[in-house]
Amino acid sequence: MAMIASKCPDITVTVVDMNAARIAAWQSDKLPIYEPGLAAVVSGALGRNLHFSTDVVGAIKAADIIFVSVNTPTKTYGVGAGRAADLRYIESVARTIAEHASGEKIIVEKSTIPVKTADAIRTILASNGNGLKFQVLSNPEFLAEGTAVADLTNPDRVLIGGERTPEGEKAMQQLVEVYARWVARDRIITTNLWSSELSKLVANAFLAQRISSINSISALCEATGADVDEVANAIGKDSRIGPKFLKSSVGFGGSCFQKDILNLTYLCESFGLPEVASYWNQVVTMNDWQKSRFTARIIKQLFNTVADKKIAVLGFAFKKDTNDTRESAAINVCRELLTEHANVCVYDPKVPAAEITADTLGPGQMNSRLTVAPDAYAACAGAHAIAVVTEWDEFKKLDFARIFAGMPKPAFVFDGRNILDLDALRKIGFCASGIGKPSA
Ligand code: UDX
Repeated sequence: MAMIASKCPDITVTVVDMNAARIAAWQSDKLPIYEPGLAAVVSGALGRNLHFSTDVVGAIKAADIIFVSVNTPTKTYGVGAGRAADLRYIESVARTIAEHASGEKIIVEKSTIPVKTADAIRTILASNGNGLKFQVLSNPEFLAEGTAVADLTNPDRVLIGGERTPEGEKAMQQLVEVYARWVARDRIITTNLWSSELSKLVANAFLAQRISSINSISALCEATGADVDEVANAIGKDSRIGPKFLKSSVGFGGSCFQKDILNLTYLCESFGLPEVASYWNQVVTMNDWQKSRFTARIIKQLFNTVADKKIAVLGFAFKKDTNDTRESAAINVCRELLTEHANVCVYDPKVPAAEITADTLGPGQMNSRLTVAPDAYAACAGAHAIAVVTEWDEFKKLDFARIFAGMPKPAFVFDGRNILDLDALRKIGFCASGIGKPSA
């Protein structure tokens, strides 16, 4: 919304939320999320045509277009628990709009939702909307965290789905005009509603599948002496495969990939397609295995016991340049190490210490064994092993000779992101291993 406000000074954008603290934070010097370049975009439009407010009803009444951007977490209860999307926030917004809208509106689904959700929104609006006509559009968001501003400034595509009726086409055109202020027309795609809703889930499933595919090969590389980065480079040169999203890692995280694949598999099962569901489910299974494989290797190499040993975990965010920890591989790694009674000391450049707690790791964790360090050197001091879990640039520049001097021997480094020079570490004296890398 900040990007729309920034690119379209003549459009008034009002962001509303019931959470007053969050709305206040968006208007302060410290935004509630860390995202490179975002502060400048927000401050450039704030007070001009970008407003933040808790007056949800007032904003609904005043708007011509309403973007529904509430969260759609994985259901934790009842039918579809652990896989289906929880649509209660979507439904609640639809009811609020129906109750308070005083004129005809375009409702845009921005949240990632299962296919056919637009039907539910339409039905709720039609049953409660005092005879008003609403057009429901789907406009999924493809930005990635850490590169959000660049992705929004120069998107690969903008996708808008709507009803293939004259009214639907007109509504789609209105939204196309908003994006066309800064996005080339040939990158703005219009489709029917269901194609748009489904494309978001499928895009994330394909991206995650590439990571699980290369991660599966990383295990084979370790067994054979091949180097997964060399294999990725060799196959990525094939223009049909392409080089992106082939970086083997400790496993993908983030709020989208796992959630969307589970949602996709649930949808497939609901539509009577168990073979399709199990095909995509394997992407998540492989990712879970990759995360556990990393921890299992640490334990094995530390002579099959990490009990009472200090392990430094470098990075807690699910990727660099974000402070988001949702579904981060670090959570699994820490949880499994704590279960083995290791003393886990975490350092992350951007994740607040208050978020690295036993609560984040889930119930039953021994929080006395989990500590947070103010910098990487403090985390590594006295540690038996270092596990690099997030690919922050600053980890590449650490003085590893200094770190080595402060560790019991043998000193181990496990690079879960393949960002370190293993040969240089081995020269210092470390027992160093990467993902899908030949052993020393
Ligand atoms: C993703 C999609 O990229 C984006 O289009 C969608 O809108 C939201 O979901 P995001 O979760 O922010 O974005 O980050 P992304 O860059 O896709 O990374 C997801 C995870 O995969 C991270 O944990 C990342 O470290 C990991 N990853 C990514 C790899 O392990 N290897 C890769 O080659 C790429």
